[in-house]
Amino acid sequence: MNVVALVPAAGRGVRLGAGRPKALVEVAGESLLLRAVRGLVDSGRVQYVVVAAPVDEVSTVEAELAPLRSFVHVVPGGAERTDSVRIALAEAERIAPDLDAVLVHDAARAFTPVSVIRDVVRAIEDGAPAVIPVLPVSDTVKQVDASGAVTATVDRSQLRSVQTPQGFAIEVLREAYAAAGDAATDDAGLVERIGGKVSTVPGHPHALKITTAFDLAVAEAVLA
Ligand code: C5P
Repeated sequence: MNVVALVPAAGRGVRLGAGRPKALVEVAGESLLLRAVRGLVDSGRVQYVVVAAPVDEVSTVEAELAPLRSFVHVVPGGAERTDSVRIALAEAERIAPDLDAVLVHDAARAFTPVSVIRDVVRAIEDGAPAVIPVLPVSDTVKQVDASGAVTATVDRSQLRSVQTPQGFAIEVLREAYAAAGDAATDDAGLVERIGGKVSTVPGHPHALKITTAFDLAVAEAVLA
């Protein structure tokens, strides 16, 4: 099966500060982006990785990914994440005309184990149109009103938190994005909107999204 991974990394990453795109923030001397892309390549299931970079950082991102040059295509991203995914998807279809499936992966999930990536690809190979890695929710979850007062306790046994890579049969992602508006942040959600079935595979705690300085510290500790 021909699979290309898309990594929309064209955001500015203001939450982590550091004045640079979040994907270029380093953990133990290596950027989140390089680690995330290497994981995809090391899975052995991905032909290419298309990375959407901030328009003025394309050459910086190319230099960052030089060790994986033969697998990586860097494209200038768009104004919104949705645009960046659309641009990366078009590039994937250009470089891999026999494309069967696409993974969409967060650079911030730089420590995703290769087993999770392989499980997602296998589920698509087995016929799932869309697949997401998920974890059970360990906190009790409450619903609140505008004043912050609790209105309900949600049954968490039916809840899952979602990780990446999210995997899609190519025609499913194409159709979902053709129908999507501008502001989608969850690709699987776009498939749900067009009535498509989304399956799950088990995620992994190491696939956490590195968003804050605390998350960076946790990642450093995991590596140590
Ligand atoms: O900024 P936010 O956290 O919503 O970004 C989510 C992801 O989408 C990030 O990985 C970011 O780099 C990416 N993104 C993008 N193109 C944009 C905006 C965000 O690829 N124009």
